[in-house]
Amino acid sequence: MIGSGAGAVVTGGGNGIGRALARRLAAGGLRVVVNDLDPAAASAVAAEIEGFAVPADVSTEDGVAALIAVARKHLGHIDVYCSNAGIAAPGGYEATEPDWQRSWDVNLMAHVRASRLLMPDWLDRGTGRLVITASAAGLLTMLGTAPYSVTKHAAVAYAEWMAATYGHRGLAVHCICPQGVRTSMLAGSGPAGDVVLRDTAIEPEAVAEALWEGMSDGRFLILPHPEVARFYGLRAADTDKWLRGMGVLQQRIEDSTAESG
Ligand SMILES: NC(=O)c1ccc[n+]([C@@H]2O[C@H](COP(=O)([O-])OP(=O)(O)OC[C@H]3O[C@@H](n4cnc5c(N)ncnc54)[C@H](O)[C@@H]3O)[C@@H](O)[C@H]2O)c1
Repeated sequence: MIGSGAGAVVTGGGNGIGRALARRLAAGGLRVVVNDLDPAAASAVAAEIEGFAVPADVSTEDGVAALIAVARKHLGHIDVYCSNAGIAAPGGYEATEPDWQRSWDVNLMAHVRASRLLMPDWLDRGTGRLVITASAAGLLTMLGTAPYSVTKHAAVAYAEWMAATYGHRGLAVHCICPQGVRTSMLAGSGPAGDVVLRDTAIEPEAVAEALWEGMSDGRFLILPHPEVARFYGLRAADTDKWLRGMGVLQQRIEDSTAESG
């Protein structure tokens, strides 16, 4: 388990799941750097947990580099890096180029760019912990947003690859895959979120607790909604049946849109 006083970074820590992760890590005795695009949000959380705010945009290589440089200066070593910031652009094939690009940058490349800077130190020391907030959308799919589903699949694939390649050299990887969580992202998820996610939505604190338990158990996949394991199994075992079920849900979303419109 992680020693008290270890250094942690949480991206997108100003709100929602990131804020809950920052609070949970701080309550567990870690020193936490709180990153967010929104400086006021980062500062508010940092003040509450006696952490340190580092506003930066993790959608760019420069933003990630600046965050990690300042965090290292403050913490000494970064022991835990929670690459949590994420965005959900709506739409399917018709989503715009900028929406697709920004989704790749935040939902995948932020993890890759951070690893590039963290791994040399972690491999030297034979220890490091990379936490990636993906989504159940990365194991299954999220109706209403192709850029989100596709880039979250990529995030899961990247987390798996890192764990498979560097686990034996001391890297711990945790991949958080919740369904609906009551945050501003869920509030903005439109009819698909209403139909698919809202009834089973949980609080961000439950996600943070699931991570904390998963860290002490050394678990890769963190499933705050345990039923996701069953859906994931069904998708693998009988993809056509799973797709037919998704089609039923899509029809319900379209019906609900027609009723409200
Ligand atoms: N809310 C859900 O239902 C849900 C479900 C599964 C996974 N997730 C994932 O959890 C993570 C957190 O989502 P949330 O629901 O807490 O969202 P949120 O919108 O409530 O909070 C996200 C935070 O990230 C920050 N952020 C966004 N882009 C950033 C960037 N480029 N650089 C730095 N900070 C940035 C925002 O300013 C915001 O404070 C995301 O990766 C999301 O995909 C959310």
